[in-house]
Amino acid sequence: MIKKCLFPAAGYGTRFLPATKATPKEMLPILTKPLIQYGVEEALEAGMHTMAIVTGRGKRAIEDHFDVSYELEHQILGTSKEDNLSCIRSLIEQCTFSYTRQIEMNGLGHAILTGETLIGDQPFAVILADDLCQGDTSGVLSQMIDVFEQYQCSIVAIEEVPMEETNKYGVIAGKLIDETDNIYRVTDMVEKPNPDDAPSNLAIIGRYILTPDIFDILRNTPPGKGGEIQITDALLTQAKQGKVIAYKFNGKRFDCGSVRGFVEATNYFAKQEGII
Ligand code: G1P
Repeated sequence: MIKKCLFPAAGYGTRFLPATKATPKEMLPILTKPLIQYGVEEALEAGMHTMAIVTGRGKRAIEDHFDVSYELEHQILGTSKEDNLSCIRSLIEQCTFSYTRQIEMNGLGHAILTGETLIGDQPFAVILADDLCQGDTSGVLSQMIDVFEQYQCSIVAIEEVPMEETNKYGVIAGKLIDETDNIYRVTDMVEKPNPDDAPSNLAIIGRYILTPDIFDILRNTPPGKGGEIQITDALLTQAKQGKVIAYKFNGKRFDCGSVRGFVEATNYFAKQEGII
C-alpha cells in the first residue's frame, strides 16, 4: 500500500510572472480550484491520505488553503456560498498535510530528497502539480498504483511528445514488455535531451512512484542538466538494475507550467463543466 504523496512545490514559477510574484504557482486556479488541489484529489482517489508538501519561501498560501479559514467560514455560514467550500472541506477531513521547506532550489531531485523527512522508508508517489492530469476511467496515479502492485519498483508515467519537444522533458528508452497495458522496462533515461540525442519521444510527465532507496541514490547523484540534481539521473541508477517501469497512461495531461497549457486546461475544463 502506498500511503504518501509528495508534492515538490518550491519552484518560482517564473513563466507566470507577474502573477507568481506573490502567489505560489501551485495556487493558480483552473476554473475555481488551484492546481495543487487537483493533485491532492488525484492522490486521494489513488488511496493516499498523507500529503507531503515541499514548500519554500512565499508559499504560505498553500498551507492556508488546506486549513480552515474561521473568519471566512463564519462569514458565509448558512448561506449558499458554503457549497463552494465543500470540496476543500472534504479533502481537509480525509487527508493530513505535512510540510517541509526547501532552503535552496537545486533541481527536482534535490526537492524530492528534501521530502525524505516527511516520507520515511516506504514507497511513495510524487505529483508535479503543474502537470494537470485527467485519467480516462481512473486517475493517472491510480493507474500507476496498479502497475506498481504488479512490478514493485519505481514507476514513471510517460506520453509521446513531438520529437522537437524532447528538450522539455526527461526522456526514456525502454523495452515494451506489456503491449496491452503500454508498459516498458526502462533501459535508459536522459534529462531534457536535444532531439538529436533523445533516445525516443517517450517523455516523463509529472507523476512518479518511487521506492525509498531513491533517497540514498539522490544523495550520491552529482549535479546533471543545468547544474542541478535531477530525479531522472537518480532513476537511471535504478533503471540500470532493471528497476524502473514506464507506463503510458490512459488520459490527458495539460502542461499548466506553460501559459499555453494552462489556457488549454482552462478551456477543456470549462467545456466539461458547460461554462463555455
Ligand atoms: C521535470 C523533470 C522532467 C520531467 C518533467 C515533467 O522537469 O525534471 O524530467 O519530464 O518535470 O513535467 P521540469 O518541468 O520541472 O523542468
